[in-house]
Amino acid sequence: MTEHKLEVNRIRKQFGEKEILSDISFYVDEGELVTLLGPSGCGKSTIMNILTGILEADAGGIRVEGKVGYMQQKDLLLPWKTCMENVILPDLLAGTAKAEAENRAAPFFTKFQLEGYERRYPNEMSGGMRQRASLLRTFLSSGDVLLLDEPFGAVDSITRGSLQQWLIGVSRELGLTILLITHDIEEAILLSDRILVLSDKPSRIRDEVMLTPAFGDGKKEARQFDPVFLELKKRILEDLK
Ligand SMILES: Nc1ncnc2c1ncn2[C@@H]1O[C@H](COP(=O)(O)OP(=O)(O)OP(=O)(O)O)[C@@H](O)[C@H]1O
Ligand SMILES: [Mg+2]
Repeated sequence: MTEHKLEVNRIRKQFGEKEILSDISFYVDEGELVTLLGPSGCGKSTIMNILTGILEADAGGIRVEGKVGYMQQKDLLLPWKTCMENVILPDLLAGTAKAEAENRAAPFFTKFQLEGYERRYPNEMSGGMRQRASLLRTFLSSGDVLLLDEPFGAVDSITRGSLQQWLIGVSRELGLTILLITHDIEEAILLSDRILVLSDKPSRIRDEVMLTPAFGDGKKEARQFDPVFLELKKRILEDLK
């Protein structure tokens, strides 16, 4: 039996008297994109904070194979640093020499559609580019598992659509393992291999939606035009009632 890339086993968390997470278990396999979907305040970011060691669970355990990259909700680039300097920051903090970090990052600027912007500052980049730069920074600091908390939360819907299409392509090409948070149902259906629907706090996993069997062999890019899309949206809306 192969081991899961990431495993969460019966975790609980409360803040003061308030129980937020109540017995949460799930896993993510290599190359999978799994989404945590749930109402605002149900504890999604708390789960990621536990996975990265920022917070400790009150009970239960976690296991992650390899190195985790975390793109926090509203992860901002430092305005006084160039795109390249922002992207290599985790490497520099880990003690890598600047030239070496730049050499490692440079080949990915094309894939992340940031070519030519290496020496530009965040205020000279579009919102979508800033998100992709933030994603590149996370990708370079991880290698194994990416935790993305609302990565497209701060952009307009057209940019969001093109970032989603781009993420589908790049994650397939690089074989990324991703745990994603969103409260956008359509985004979850478009991007995920599986969706874990969380209830309001104290939150539990209310439903697990398997997208790959539901859509057959079709490419993710085409999902939004498939009648199954609406059926799944209806099911998830019911789950969240
Ligand atoms: N460090 C903390 N101390 C006390 N309460 C906290 C802390 N972090 C989160 N909370 C509370 O825990 C609950 C869950 O917060 P969390 O940020 O995980 O929700 P979320 O599902 O990510 O919400 P959103 O979709 O709005 O980002 C909220 O009620 C929040 O106020
Ligand atoms: Mg959150």
